Amino acid sequence: MKELKGRDFLTLKDFTAEELQAILNLSLKLEKSRFPPKPLKGKSLVMIFQKPSTRTRVSFEVAIRQLGGWPLTLGWGEMQLGRGETVADTARTLERYADGVIARVFRHGDLEELAANAEIPIVNALSDLYHPCQALADMLTIYKHFGKLKGLKLAWVGDGDNVCHSLLLACSKLGLNMSVACPEGFEPKREVLDEALTEAKKSGSLIEVVREPVRAVFGADIIYTDVFVSMGLEKERERRIKAFLPKYQVTPTLFKHAKSTCVFMHCLPAHRGEEVVDDVIDGSQSIVWEQAENRLHLQKGLLAALFQKG
Ligand code: CP
Ligand code: NVA
Repeated sequence: MKELKGRDFLTLKDFTAEELQAILNLSLKLEKSRFPPKPLKGKSLVMIFQKPSTRTRVSFEVAIRQLGGWPLTLGWGEMQLGRGETVADTARTLERYADGVIARVFRHGDLEELAANAEIPIVNALSDLYHPCQALADMLTIYKHFGKLKGLKLAWVGDGDNVCHSLLLACSKLGLNMSVACPEGFEPKREVLDEALTEAKKSGSLIEVVREPVRAVFGADIIYTDVFVSMGLEKERERRIKAFLPKYQVTPTLFKHAKSTCVFMHCLPAHRGEEVVDDVIDGSQSIVWEQAENRLHLQKGLLAALFQKG
């Protein structure tokens, strides 16, 4: 296993199953620890947000403080980035002040440019392509709920978006089966699917893309959905709603086709009445609030791994 210290965390593609498991284990250990260490003591982390955020921003700020560090959060538009300073020049400047950068961006390529021009770790807080902190936190939630990961079936119903991409990588690496149900034209990207299929061969998991939500959720342990209109795609709203509704909405009727022990997950924020109805998200099988909480625990484990002392 390569050392985790000092690495960028842009996509789960760059991490082996063993490395992801190590981050999960550290997260569990920190959560239970009565006297948690302060691996970020004396360290400053800059957070840049090009899009809105509630969970990611607050859980990272709290995680950094709980680990003894200092978070500095800035909007893209507040920085010279908003006036055209290049991402590369921003990276060259920030690495002289800070110990790491956590960024939420429209273009995944901007994260790669930050990483290519700074020696300090760069963490993806969501891009158009991936949301790795979310997916790994979701693995923590699933593990805490079921006591295992391998062999479980996650059914994704909806858009093959950034969260779906990161879940495909997490599931295929860690041995969960994942069935994605989406309308034509809204499939996960071919390159991500191919990567997941390659990983699935190694871990023994089954990955598939289907049209029918009922087929995806058959025998599922987890039904997961996300908004139909991700941030930045607002102009496509009408076309998307037409493609997804009513077929891809998670309802109590759809739930009946899954295992009786099946849980509901959503990265949040939810658009109630679109991808999910109140009876499901507020129902007894929903674990969305545990899921939101685990963002904090996972990110503490991740930061502790990337910024270990010594
Ligand atoms: N799930 C998630 O990333 O939420 P925020 O957009 O509120 O950060
Ligand atoms: N797919 C959503 C996730 C939000 C956390 C988006 O990118 O807007």
